[in-house]
Amino acid sequence: MNISAELLSFLRGASRAVALTGAGASQESGLRTFRDSQIGLWAQYRPEELASPEAFARDPKLVWDWYAWRREAIKGARPNAGHYALAEVEKKIPQFTLITQNVDGLHRMAGSLALLELHGNIQRVRCSECGEYAETWNEDSETVPRCDYCEGLLRPDVVWFGESLPRNQLERAVEASRACDVYFSIGTSGVVQPAASLAHAAKKNGAIIVEINAETTPLTEKADFFLQGKSGEILPALVKAMWG
Ligand code: APR
Repeated sequence: MNISAELLSFLRGASRAVALTGAGASQESGLRTFRDSQIGLWAQYRPEELASPEAFARDPKLVWDWYAWRREAIKGARPNAGHYALAEVEKKIPQFTLITQNVDGLHRMAGSLALLELHGNIQRVRCSECGEYAETWNEDSETVPRCDYCEGLLRPDVVWFGESLPRNQLERAVEASRACDVYFSIGTSGVVQPAASLAHAAKKNGAIIVEINAETTPLTEKADFFLQGKSGEILPALVKAMWG
């Protein structure tokens, strides 16, 4: 993968960078993208039918089982070269903020610290009533585990369709996107708000937009640079070209 000299010179001059990642950034870790997650027995459901408060109210066990299945699928997953490259970028660019829509925890596992998990983290579980986090729970229970404090049903600590994003994380994401010189959109279809609007906030404030994706997306035509391919290959090539 050759990175254009123009992009490299932009990056060399950048002191503030933001990267937004989506499910594509974890695809090379063997995790299905969000829209590919419905396979096998889950294929009969649309994501909205599994990842929403209404779905949980209607059938908590079905929703709990889908997330238990996804936690199981993630158990064997390891960060890929793209995750590690982003952890490297954080060490090289003074003000770097990594914003992820992924709930798989792989960026944290790769060592990224300046991380905003906009949609939560599937490895965390909290009470649907009192909000207390559960340290442990019986993953094999026949019924949805309940909160030790108030007996409420436990749920994954992720943002469901129709729910608002963690306010603090979103505010920091918007602030970083507005202030950056370079904004990377990596492995995301850029269709789900409000994450999808961060690139526009960056562009409006003069940032250059770099998109890394296996395919074009609605953002591609607005991006200053479009690097088509796998993020697990492109990101390490970018780090190598920048910092050897
Ligand atoms: N490298 C780079 N991009 C990839 C790769 C890869 N190896 N594999 C897939 N992609 C791209 C696809 O082309 C697609 O544009 O990753 C994107 C995945 O898009 P989605 O499945 O829509 O996932 P995402 O953009 O993260 O969805 C955003 O929507 O469904 C909600 O909350 C859910 O966080 C999710 C959000």
